[in-house]
Amino acid sequence: MRIDVLTLFPNMFTGFLNESIMARAIKNQLVEVNLIDFREFSTNKHKKVDDYPYGGGAGMVLQVQPVYDALTSIKGYKDALKIMVTPQGETFTQCKAYDLSKQDHIIILCGHYEGFDERIRDYFDIEISIGDYVLTGGELAAMVLIDSITRVQPQVISKDESHLNDSFSNDLLEHPHYTRPREFNGKTVPEVLLNGNHEKIKKWRYEESVKRTKKRRQDLYEKHQRGGNFE
Ligand code: 6GU
Repeated sequence: MRIDVLTLFPNMFTGFLNESIMARAIKNQLVEVNLIDFREFSTNKHKKVDDYPYGGGAGMVLQVQPVYDALTSIKGYKDALKIMVTPQGETFTQCKAYDLSKQDHIIILCGHYEGFDERIRDYFDIEISIGDYVLTGGELAAMVLIDSITRVQPQVISKDESHLNDSFSNDLLEHPHYTRPREFNGKTVPEVLLNGNHEKIKKWRYEESVKRTKKRRQDLYEKHQRGGNFE
């Protein structure tokens, strides 16, 4: 899968793309991420990409020209799924991460709160928000999308570390986990996990998942009770 990111702050992505599972997925060519600084496409002599809002008011507005020129410079942009990350978009979910992971090529535009020239929207297919709070720019949101889309790509995470029983992938939160030592500050590991009875362990984990979901996320619990709608 190829991901192109249109951003004014490509350096924000450096740590993210160079560590852990993201770095490994890129090295193994399971994803390719290209950062495009659309300031470079500004035709203004000071490389300005924003300007005052028509009609007045506070704040600056991102201009359509640099975004359009940067977008149309991307090879294959016509066939790519073009995404704007904005607080006005549809809320991102695990289900959306799965859907997007099936694309061959996506382009993500990172913009600024209340700051796009409306005509930029004409060139994008969908708008995504990562939640009901405000960030200073779309870069963190783009990283959230890239991370969650990458980790569900085939072969990014091995079968043993499988994401198939992640929280949310079946409308339930994950069961509790334990590792060594067996006892810490007087707190012990539940007996059922120590006896090697895989049927019993599976049942215990499922019941703990349901209990935890009911206690912490009534909304997910009700969805699960109704049969859920996850793929
Ligand atoms: Cl995508 N961008 C910004 N600036 N703030 C957000 C967001 C995006 N999603 C939630 N808050």
